[in-house]
Amino acid sequence: MRPGTPQDRAKVAAGRRALDTFVRDGMLLGLGSGTTSHWFVRSLAERVRDGLDVVGVPTSTATRDLALELGVRLADLNDVPELDLTIDGPDEIDGAGSMIKGGGACLLWEKIVARASRRMVTVLDDTKIVPTLGAFPLPVEVVPFGWVSTRRHLSRRFADAGLGEAPITNRMRGDELLVTDSGHYILDAHLGAIPDIPGLAAVLNDIPGVVEHGLFVGIADEMVVGHPDGSAEVH
Ligand code: 5RP
Repeated sequence: MRPGTPQDRAKVAAGRRALDTFVRDGMLLGLGSGTTSHWFVRSLAERVRDGLDVVGVPTSTATRDLALELGVRLADLNDVPELDLTIDGPDEIDGAGSMIKGGGACLLWEKIVARASRRMVTVLDDTKIVPTLGAFPLPVEVVPFGWVSTRRHLSRRFADAGLGEAPITNRMRGDELLVTDSGHYILDAHLGAIPDIPGLAAVLNDIPGVVEHGLFVGIADEMVVGHPDGSAEVH
């Protein structure tokens, strides 16, 4: 598969730079989800065909399927509970390295795998960098039991946190509610801007029925930013 758009070329560049800079023979690697991570997996598979010996732990069934199709060896996180490195992409990232993730509905496995890793490198095209998180809707993963009640609770807590009457939409796949790889639903909170990210993360962690949310705070150790001209730099 070839990168079709300038943004794809930037994503490929970020993945290749991350591969060259951070990935070493013998590593246990967390493999992210989304298009940027999948470009990384394709570059990784080329190196594996040339003899690189790594074992991946995928953060979604989609990444699992891609890696298996391309011949990247995989393991279950329960068999390799500590990983050397995870490479994954954000939906938004700010200057402090805080991210919104979950645009692809994989945030739960992504956060578990990132937290199981000694190092997390985020790969992105330059459009993902923002001054303030929140223009991208914040995904919140909820259990199906009582999810309408959980959504009401969420609304009230956003108002209490000074975020006003933030609209919350149900993530759909066609006419049905989208079901995540773990059998949950996703609610997307349209917040506009999130002034206190750790504060909001704490609020969300305290709501029964919320399994996980897309705020990744203090998780990324480095970021690799790709550009459409094929260049990429490490921050
Ligand atoms: C999936 C994610 C993705 O990593 C995120 O949406 C970035 O995707 P892309 O690289 O396609 O822009 O969090 O849950």
